[in-house]
Amino acid sequence: MALPKTSSPFSLPSFSLLLFILFLALQTPLSFSSDTISANSSISGDRQLTSKGGNFVLGFFSPANSSKYYIAIWYKKVSQPTSVWVANRETPVSDPTKSELKLSEDGNLVLLNESKAQIWSTSASISTNSTVAVLQDTGNLVLAEGSNSSRILWQSFDHPTNTWLPGGKLGLNKVTKQNQRLISWKSSADPAPGIFSLELDPNGSSQYFIQWNKSVSYWTSGTWNGRIFSGVPEMNENYLNYDFTYVNNTDESYFTYYSVKSDSVISRFIMDLSGQIKQLTWMENSQEWILFWSQPRAQCEVHSLCGPFGSCNENGLPFCRCVKGFAARNETEWDLEDRTGGCVRNTPLQCSSNSSVHVEKDKFYEMESMRWPLNPQNVDVGSLEDCESACLNNCSCTAYSFGGGCSVWYRDLINLQGQYNGPKGGTLYLRLAASELPDPTSKKRTVSGDVAGVVAGLFVCVVIVWVGIWRRRKRRMIRAAKAVGRTLVPFRYSDLQHFTKNFSEKLGGGGFGSVFKGFLPDSTAIAVKKLEGLCLHGEKQFRAEVSTIGTVQHINLVHLLGFCSEGTRRLLVYEFMPKGSLDAQLFHNNSMVLDWNKRYQIALGIARGLAYLHEKCRDCIIHCDIKPENILLDAAFVPKVADFGLAKLLGRDFSRVLTTTRGTIGYLAPEWITGVAITAKADVYSYGMMLFEIISGRRNLEQTEEGKATYFPTLAANRLMQGDVQGLVDHRLGDDVNIEELETACKIACWCVQDDESSRPTMGHVVQILEGFHEINVPPIPRSLQILVEGLENINFSSDMPITTSTVSQVRSAAPRSSSV
Ligand SMILES: *[C@@H]1O[C@H](CO)[C@@H](O)[C@H](O)[C@H]1NC(C)=O
Ligand SMILES: *[C@@H]1O[C@H](CO)[C@@H](O)[C@H](O)[C@H]1NC(C)=O
Ligand SMILES: *[C@@H]1O[C@H](CO)[C@@H](O)[C@H](O)[C@H]1NC(C)=O
Ligand SMILES: *[C@@H]1O[C@H](CO)[C@@H](O)[C@H](O)[C@H]1NC(C)=O
Ligand SMILES: *[C@@H]1O[C@H](CO)[C@@H](O)[C@H](O)[C@H]1NC(C)=O
Ligand SMILES: *[C@@H]1O[C@H](CO)[C@@H](O)[C@H](O)[C@H]1NC(C)=O
Ligand SMILES: *[C@@H]1O[C@H](CO)[C@@H](O)[C@H](O)[C@H]1NC(C)=O
Ligand SMILES: *[C@@H]1O[C@H](CO)[C@@H](O)[C@H](O)[C@H]1NC(C)=O
Ligand SMILES: *[C@@H]1O[C@H](CO)[C@@H](O)[C@H](O)[C@H]1NC(C)=O
Ligand SMILES: *[C@@H]1O[C@H](CO)[C@@H](O)[C@H](O)[C@H]1NC(C)=O
Ligand SMILES: *[C@@H]1O[C@H](CO)[C@@H](O)[C@H](O)[C@H]1NC(C)=O
Repeated sequence: MALPKTSSPFSLPSFSLLLFILFLALQTPLSFSSDTISANSSISGDRQLTSKGGNFVLGFFSPANSSKYYIAIWYKKVSQPTSVWVANRETPVSDPTKSELKLSEDGNLVLLNESKAQIWSTSASISTNSTVAVLQDTGNLVLAEGSNSSRILWQSFDHPTNTWLPGGKLGLNKVTKQNQRLISWKSSADPAPGIFSLELDPNGSSQYFIQWNKSVSYWTSGTWNGRIFSGVPEMNENYLNYDFTYVNNTDESYFTYYSVKSDSVISRFIMDLSGQIKQLTWMENSQEWILFWSQPRAQCEVHSLCGPFGSCNENGLPFCRCVKGFAARNETEWDLEDRTGGCVRNTPLQCSSNSSVHVEKDKFYEMESMRWPLNPQNVDVGSLEDCESACLNNCSCTAYSFGGGCSVWYRDLINLQGQYNGPKGGTLYLRLAASELPDPTSKKRTVSGDVAGVVAGLFVCVVIVWVGIWRRRKRRMIRAAKAVGRTLVPFRYSDLQHFTKNFSEKLGGGGFGSVFKGFLPDSTAIAVKKLEGLCLHGEKQFRAEVSTIGTVQHINLVHLLGFCSEGTRRLLVYEFMPKGSLDAQLFHNNSMVLDWNKRYQIALGIARGLAYLHEKCRDCIIHCDIKPENILLDAAFVPKVADFGLAKLLGRDFSRVLTTTRGTIGYLAPEWITGVAITAKADVYSYGMMLFEIISGRRNLEQTEEGKATYFPTLAANRLMQGDVQGLVDHRLGDDVNIEELETACKIACWCVQDDESSRPTMGHVVQILEGFHEINVPPIPRSLQILVEGLENINFSSDMPITTSTVSQVRSAAPRSSSV
């Protein structure tokens, strides 16, 4: 450098700035552009590796709510920090600037902590010490020979943590006997191995197990039949979009998968803290991961999800709560979703106390609608009282039940579940210290009979008067509501409890909560929907949204009468629909088949209702969840669209509800997956899928035999091209069909399910066509179905042949959709 020796460079601020810039210029390419660690470079502090295509980054990573650092790989293009692999799961460091990831002298990649002690290593047996570590664009970190980079010595894909990426392996190495399991994190702040794991059957069959503590299997995928896992029939649906391959040779057996769609879809499988295996897809629009698929589907099927004395609740968030008289063993861990410690008693039992002072005997707390916990013991006694004393007399007994026979439980109660109405549950009596259960009646008994009588009499009078006033008030309110037509009645929870006889008659349950039948004091039948449990908006916003929904009124939309918003409780009160939902009439009612005319009128009514939602009301409402379950029928079979407006009401939770609800997926438009903005045309797509089902009287994806699905939309599209729709209609209708109408309906359905949104008609247009005011052309076969048909023609397609989705995926992988993502 030709700097004049006379000037003192360090006295000049501009020169130090220059130095600083030079320093940066030298540093930048090293820290940001490299995908390789070689002998003379290492990762420390903020330095990172970035894969060649810019998909993944490796560096020091600190999970939310943690002060520790881990060497991890995460997505570069995903705005939420999401790690896919962690090196030092159990040995974090506190100061990344003093820690270092480098190649050691023996060629392995090692992590040194602040005091230069080795805390993690790839531990491969390597003969050469000239190696390089490269972060590939698939998210795989590869340790290879320096002289020949295709000789792989170790790779992170062989050592997955909780994430299975496309191209990654998940199976068994038969030589090293190593099992590549996915193991959940310990808590949301701690990537150390947790309690749940997913692994391929170590005994060599082709099925996966999810296990608790590597000992209790609570879910299995079923064996692989070459196309799908027998326990995962939804793989048949064309929405999983992945090509799974099973490799089984003398060295290893594993599964791997690739995205059939474009690589720009970011998706991953994880063994989640919730004990479920989940497939999540990144939605660029909304900048969030949406849950696409999970198993076990019901959260409470996860073994010991809430730990001892924790109770799981399928209808509520959080899923886990401690039962009465108990509190989380460790509040911090519990809040970070580590529930293995479960809950502990607030007050010790009388039994376990040796104090000489008199302590009242333990009592039992009655818990209704509980699933039986694990390991009940039968006791041979004949009455509830004897059952109770059998439990009371043994200090390790913690609960009993008496439903027919007497069962007792010793020590920890595992797998408790509340609000359970299935066959394996009932009323459970939980043993608690007497002080946890102040007995209100014990005091009353001391009051003299006379006084008690007077008090009771007075009480009855007051109640009668009060009920009278209240009834009149309510009747007035309801009358007023009906007269004005637009006012929603704000119900009190206790009233709704009363109207529904304490929510005793369940009409159905969906992703949004359960629906119960009830009667208003004027005998009007109502359906009460409990939204309880979801992460709902605050009271004010709830009221605002509900009143918006309340103003939307149309003959083909279910009428909202009122609502209730008290504390965390959110309920909606609708008019009652005597003929139930369309799916029940179409698929489950064998005694009465809907005739063609009714079906056509139903299709038309739904179209009118949706057209109103999309076009006529003040703010356009996209329903987002059109399916037969959400179409209700009144006494005259007039269809009414239900659940509209809930997408907005439930906000972000909606996608969770949508994607975890079985059966919904078959109706979702492709744009739900590709991540482009959702418009009213998504409803049009779902309507088309549903129209196919109205025509055929069967689910589009109905299983005829195991693993084989007759994909009706493809069949229908193909027959339309051949001009032969006659055989398509529900065979139970016989000849009693208007062929012209049938053809119109088929054409509409097929237009509605076009891949390209702009090719789909609007709902208003659909109404006009169904009403006969517009002609309709023969639709092109939707592109995705077209590829399928062409592929099938090559293999001598006969139109009656059941089309299996393996053919779908074969054809798709041969000619992937040129998706416009
Ligand atoms: C690191 O070493 C490799 C060869 O071992 C060499 O090609 C490269 O230029 C070196 N990098 C730096 C920054 O010194
Ligand atoms: C985790 O961090 C978030 C904010 O980053 C905070 O709201 C939350 O309470 C923390 N959770 C725990 C259990 O500390
Ligand atoms: C590789 O090993 C040789 C001796 O076995 C040693 O001299 C050399 O320094 C080592 N190279 C590296 C990069 O550690
Ligand atoms: C580094 O790791 C070693 C070995 O595990 C341990 O003894 C030492 O305390 C660690 N140093 C720091 C600063 O944590
Ligand atoms: C690199 O290693 C691969 C796999 O071991 C081998 O097939 C290839 O011939 C090697 N290439 C060179 C240049 O040595
Ligand atoms: C594997 O086989 C052994 C012996 O046949 C059996 O005890 C064990 O339960 C099997 N494990 C699984 C996961 O099926
Ligand atoms: C895998 O291959 C082995 C032989 O290498 C065979 O014994 C085993 O049955 C195969 N497993 C499956 C599930 O096909
Ligand atoms: C898991 O199993 C191990 C023994 O395999 C046991 O020591 C540990 O306590 C178990 N964990 C829980 C939470 O029960
Ligand atoms: C709770 O768990 C955290 C994390 O495992 C631990 O640091 C803390 O000491 C525990 N608290 C109690 C009261 O045991
Ligand atoms: C009860 O008594 C036993 C022995 O008599 C003693 O070991 C134990 O600590 C006592 N427990 C309590 C809670 O006082
Ligand atoms: C209580 O029940 C347990 C489990 O059945 C048994 O081992 C124990 O002996 C019983 N204790 C008494 C005092 O009966």
